[in-house]
Amino acid sequence: MHALRLLTEKSLEDRLGIAASAVAYFDGASEVGGFLSRYAGTPAPLIAWREEDHPEKAGLMSAGEVDKLLLEQRIERGRRDASITLAEVGEATRAVEVLAPWHDFARRTSALFGPADVREPRSEQLPEAARPASRTPTKALQGPQSAPLDPAFRRTYSILDSDPPKYGDTLQDTVPHMWVLASREALAAELAALCLIECDNLPLPFYLDFAKQMWDEARHAVFYLNAAVSLLPDLAAELPAGHPLHDDIRAFREEGTGLPVPREGNLYEAMLNATLIERLVIMHHDTETPAVAALEEQINSTLWARRPQIAAGITIVQMDERTHARLGHRWLKHLLPDRHELEEAIQNARLMRTMLLLTSCAHHGQQPYAALVSQLLAKKRRPQRVPTGTGAELD
Ligand SMILES: [Fe+2]
Ligand SMILES: [Fe+2]
Repeated sequence: MHALRLLTEKSLEDRLGIAASAVAYFDGASEVGGFLSRYAGTPAPLIAWREEDHPEKAGLMSAGEVDKLLLEQRIERGRRDASITLAEVGEATRAVEVLAPWHDFARRTSALFGPADVREPRSEQLPEAARPASRTPTKALQGPQSAPLDPAFRRTYSILDSDPPKYGDTLQDTVPHMWVLASREALAAELAALCLIECDNLPLPFYLDFAKQMWDEARHAVFYLNAAVSLLPDLAAELPAGHPLHDDIRAFREEGTGLPVPREGNLYEAMLNATLIERLVIMHHDTETPAVAALEEQINSTLWARRPQIAAGITIVQMDERTHARLGHRWLKHLLPDRHELEEAIQNARLMRTMLLLTSCAHHGQQPYAALVSQLLAKKRRPQRVPTGTGAELD
């Protein structure tokens, strides 16, 4: 539910707390699982939405739109119920020596959920343990149809017409690249959130991995945005008079918005419409894996000789990206253990990449998806530049 909440939050800064809470709860779930395994011999379950919590069935989401208020109320209700349950377990096991480990565990874990007022009635019966009907990974939900962009950004050019700015040797190239990168890091967090909310019947480590990635990417987004903003005065000093970026910088300083990004934003729709396997190939296999080496070049850029804190931040991003590349590989192998099937899925996902990017173009542009595909095919027949959909556009 925190992952769903993240997908409704505009502010990159405010997403940090949501992602941190999600990780704390998933880590808590892992501790509960570990305790139950050691002390009760309970086998590790597959994770799935309970019927009554499923966002659409619980009325938290309908037609791709999330009811933020209801979602927040449901999160608070869950926190309070968990807190009351743990307080009751603590109370029931107090002074029962044979149950001392349960008492200790309830006491330690209750810190995660904050205070409980045991006089307050629990809002529902003690939940039954989730019992997935099937042991096959399934898509249980389609994420929200759109995700908001931080107000710092302004949608301008289309990726159909021009490429976003690339990393370079000057601030003029690099600073606009960094704020676009901030929006793409936000996409990576959204992708992880989508994997968390949409996929049922995977083991807990899958959710632990994607919760960690969601938080990492949320931090990367804030890091790149803050780094770009800190460089705006130096950028303004470097730009020639009359350069259009002067107006954008002024708008950002005065109104807190205006940093130009593609009209398609961070291409959320492309990832929303992708399958889990396609996400793992396009983002983890084809973007994050090569990004680890590419970041080395950025870390050593002469631009950071006088700004070591930026190089240090990129070094941390690189460390995190290495773990994302690894976790992507881990779950691709879990889902497709046969090497030939995996190879085939990688090739198929690459074929789908441009088609998926066009879903973002259609969502934010004037032309329907079918028309964009027809144009693409026509351009393919004539040797012209078409959106390549390289991984670099995604992270
Ligand atoms: Fe990242
Ligand atoms: Fe990443």
